[in-house]
Amino acid sequence: MTTAALDRHYSSSQHRERYERVARLMPAVEWDAHYELVAAVDALKHERNAVILAHNYQRPEVYHGVADFCGDSLELARYAARATADVIVLCGVRFMAETAKLLAPDKTVLLPDAAAGCSLAESITPADVRALRARHPGVPVVCYVNTSAAVKSECDACCTSSNAQAVVESLGAPEVIFVPDEYLAAHVAAHTSVRIIPWQGHCEVHERFTGQEVREYRNASQAYVLAHPECPGDVLDAADFVGSTSAMIATLERQQPPRAMLITECSMADNISSNFPDIQFLRPCNLCPHMQRITLASVRTSLERLSLAIEIPDEIAAGARRAVQRMLELGRTRAS
Ligand code: 13P
Ligand code: SF4
Repeated sequence: MTTAALDRHYSSSQHRERYERVARLMPAVEWDAHYELVAAVDALKHERNAVILAHNYQRPEVYHGVADFCGDSLELARYAARATADVIVLCGVRFMAETAKLLAPDKTVLLPDAAAGCSLAESITPADVRALRARHPGVPVVCYVNTSAAVKSECDACCTSSNAQAVVESLGAPEVIFVPDEYLAAHVAAHTSVRIIPWQGHCEVHERFTGQEVREYRNASQAYVLAHPECPGDVLDAADFVGSTSAMIATLERQQPPRAMLITECSMADNISSNFPDIQFLRPCNLCPHMQRITLASVRTSLERLSLAIEIPDEIAAGARRAVQRMLELGRTRAS
């Protein structure tokens, strides 16, 4: 692409202005090196009438450089459901792109890297859910959004880390099968009278944190600790706040602690640090290899080739959509 074509929607002076968002993370020369790709993505976005959604764990140059909307799993799903663009590029992992496609079936939904998976989503199959139902007849099944569409199609309702307890309780059942995250299941079980039947799935990123590590950091720094509920129980016990990635941002806005430590994927602290110039972030760092697969180059290729376009077979989509919509419906009822 020529410089004039690149500059049509996004100029090098805009790029320099945007540098403020990442100035605490990278030298200006590194940001400048991203210019051509950011401008190319911007031009393709206009050409394709596309919108770019990014999860809070994306690389800073994707999050601050090209995304139109950033959020946690629930916010991305809600945004996809009301998107008006022809193409949705989901900068995140496969289950997020599948959820967007379930909620926006007439749109082209692109996942820039086909290998962007999730260890939780891979920990359970539709046959596993059917076997659990056979073992616990009549007990409803709630699946975490971090599951394949095929698994969702076997479940009664879906949830995210923002609404897991509310979804479980909304079923009005004395016991609920909750898959696949064992630690999120234990966290919900500790806050509800519903008996939770868990599955042994784990997030390969969050399971690496330990309570001892968190306590040591905290004692040394007096930092306010925010942990994702995919972490083991002793980590959650050592935290001041437990919640989804966006709930962590909202809590920091309210609390404004002088120092904070996010016990979650470490791109997140990088991404939000410019919004909190007065907070010092401590960075115990575990990266999600799946989230990191999404790069500016893969976003550009994805928009050029319209790849990887998510397709969900009709027989799976109907049940999976029902489970996801039940969750969104609950949000609407609670908001009204
Ligand atoms: P959130 O819904 O909190 O953004 O979490 C998604 C996820 O995959 C965490 O590992
Ligand atoms: Fe999956 Fe964990 Fe990566 Fe989230 S951080 S996408 S749960 S592997």
